[in-house]
Amino acid sequence: MTMEKAKDYKELSVMAAERIAMKISNKPNAVLGLATGSTPEGMYDALIKMYNQKRISFAEAATFNLDEYVGLHSDDENSYAYYMKQHLFQHIDLSPEKAHLPDGEADDMDEACKAYEQRIEEAGGIDLQVIGIGLNGHIGFNEPHTPFEQRTHVVELDKTTRNANARFFPSLEAVPTHAITMGIQNIMESKELLLLVAGEQKASVLERLVYGDKTEAFPASIIKEHPNVTIIADQGALSGLK
Ligand code: F6R
Repeated sequence: MTMEKAKDYKELSVMAAERIAMKISNKPNAVLGLATGSTPEGMYDALIKMYNQKRISFAEAATFNLDEYVGLHSDDENSYAYYMKQHLFQHIDLSPEKAHLPDGEADDMDEACKAYEQRIEEAGGIDLQVIGIGLNGHIGFNEPHTPFEQRTHVVELDKTTRNANARFFPSLEAVPTHAITMGIQNIMESKELLLLVAGEQKASVLERLVYGDKTEAFPASIIKEHPNVTIIADQGALSGLK
């Protein structure tokens, strides 16, 4: 596990974008695993800037997002499909057929999970997976006590997670109760993992990740076993480390 230290959120965002830029420069048809939430927003801004400066192109790349809420239409402004369109996809040359998110509106969710895994497999697996970390240690929407072997599945969202995400919705009740997410096993199968941790509110989470033991009570603890994982953290998040 490599830890890269950023002085602030802006630097973290640029460092993360540089990692992606390097990946698609070396392998233009790279398969990128993407995350939503507040943390990667700055990274997406930095990538758009690099694209506008003609430093990078996504023309041959493919993307797979970690997760999506169940029951929100892709035009709903709280869906992750909408988030990705706003924050990245509509600004770059990634072809829409190669931008994948789990289908949160499928009639048959088990089928949708299987289909998503199949598409990842057909694309050759994920070369670089970007992840964030929840206040309860979740990765993707794999909440505490999700088995480490779990693959893509539908999950009932934890209270902490719904509370944390309520900031994007008109009320807590409006936050969906379920989501479809890549499992921990899928995340661990990606060839490279990039975890972004920003802000003081994540300091204790990063501290637990770095010093704590591997336990399903803290899903992110598994990533220390990944052979190629980099954490980029800013000073706020690093403030809990010795
Ligand atoms: C989002 C995702 C989540 C977030 C996590 C942190 O696709 O999978 O695990 O990465 O909830 O969210 P932020 O960045 O908003 O603190």
